[in-house]
Amino acid sequence: MQAAVIPEVNTAWELREIPTPRPGPGEVLIRVRASGICYNDVLISRGIIPFPAFSPAVIGHEPAGEVVEVGAGVTARRTGDRVGVTWIQGTCGRCDYCALGLPVSGQAAFRCAAPAMTGLTVPGGHAEYLVAPADATVLLPDGLDFELAAPVLCAGYTAWCAFSKGAPRPHERVAVLGVGGLGHFALQFSAAAGFETVAITRSPDKHAVARELGADLVVGSGEELLAAGGADVILVTGPSYAAATDSLRGLRLGGRIVLAGIDGLEPFTIPPDLARPFFAQGQQVLGATHDGPGFLEQALRVVASGKVTPKVEVFAKEQVADALDKVAKGEVRFKAVVTY
Ligand SMILES: NC(=O)c1ccc[n+]([C@@H]2O[C@H](COP(=O)([O-])OP(=O)(O)OC[C@H]3O[C@@H](n4cnc5c(N)ncnc54)[C@H](OP(=O)(O)O)[C@@H]3O)[C@@H](O)[C@H]2O)c1
Ligand SMILES: [Zn+2]
Ligand SMILES: [Zn+2]
Repeated sequence: MQAAVIPEVNTAWELREIPTPRPGPGEVLIRVRASGICYNDVLISRGIIPFPAFSPAVIGHEPAGEVVEVGAGVTARRTGDRVGVTWIQGTCGRCDYCALGLPVSGQAAFRCAAPAMTGLTVPGGHAEYLVAPADATVLLPDGLDFELAAPVLCAGYTAWCAFSKGAPRPHERVAVLGVGGLGHFALQFSAAAGFETVAITRSPDKHAVARELGADLVVGSGEELLAAGGADVILVTGPSYAAATDSLRGLRLGGRIVLAGIDGLEPFTIPPDLARPFFAQGQQVLGATHDGPGFLEQALRVVASGKVTPKVEVFAKEQVADALDKVAKGEVRFKAVVTY
């Protein structure tokens, strides 16, 4: 099969011929049709998130496709099922974290002793075929194109969980910091749910599209958010914690700032001039990741309903290196999807 292989840290992805995997007991073989690129794939490529130990290094955790073969003992999936696979495929089942019996979620990446992670500990979805445990697949809603389903498997899932974690109440205002892959979902989820929604973007060329995505107001900084009346919930969907800190200036009394973006280089801080108001204002800092299959199911349903539609740039597999480059430069509007 053809797969996008990363020869080593910080090198361009190459389309190469590698052996097609076979499904073992409990597993399915998926013919990948569309595979999204997450900013985390850029971080993995650069070794900022640990580079995979397996070889050839094929990453990607937003694959959508069809089941073409089922392994022994699989009853919940059949040949022809349209499925997606997410970042965490499963947990070790033996550690203290697993003993808590929680749903499979992004927490497991940091708490389970040996989580199976697509494109990190086991081969990922930038390939024509992918093997995954049947239990780690999600059935895609009928009628949802693979190109639109793929970005939901990480970006949409994360944005939906961040929005849910922020738990806006009907009278509250939601701000989304960073209009990118996650952010363009978050804006749409918030607007579709009826909330007054603010986009915080450092890109002047995104003002018009942010409004198209549902923003009632577009600002460029925390200071501008404050001047515009602030927000009760700020969903941080970009990779800069300095920008997250800045946005705190516009967080209202009792507000929640939800960190969904990951800054691999700088810490999130509450600087001295904000710490004094922060402690007295009942504000909260929350983290968000994939919160469990039920949330993914909800996000997929909202997208399938047409209330939220990912904006994707589709690349042929031969263009995968260009696609990654464009994501790394922040030039994609708003999700890069590679077809295999
Ligand atoms: N929590 C999780 O489980 C999870 C899952 C997936 C991804 N992530 C993280 O989420 C973040 C976004 O991923 P993505 O795929 O949506 O990336 P993306 O498409 O590149 O979007 C990120 C957006 O953040 C803003 N931004 C970029 N660099 C910035 C900087 N230096 N300062 C301020 N703003 C900046 C930009 O928006 P504007 O142009 O509008 O400012 C950009 O479009 C990454 O940190 C990624 O690692 C987390
Ligand atoms: Zn991701
Ligand atoms: Zn475990």
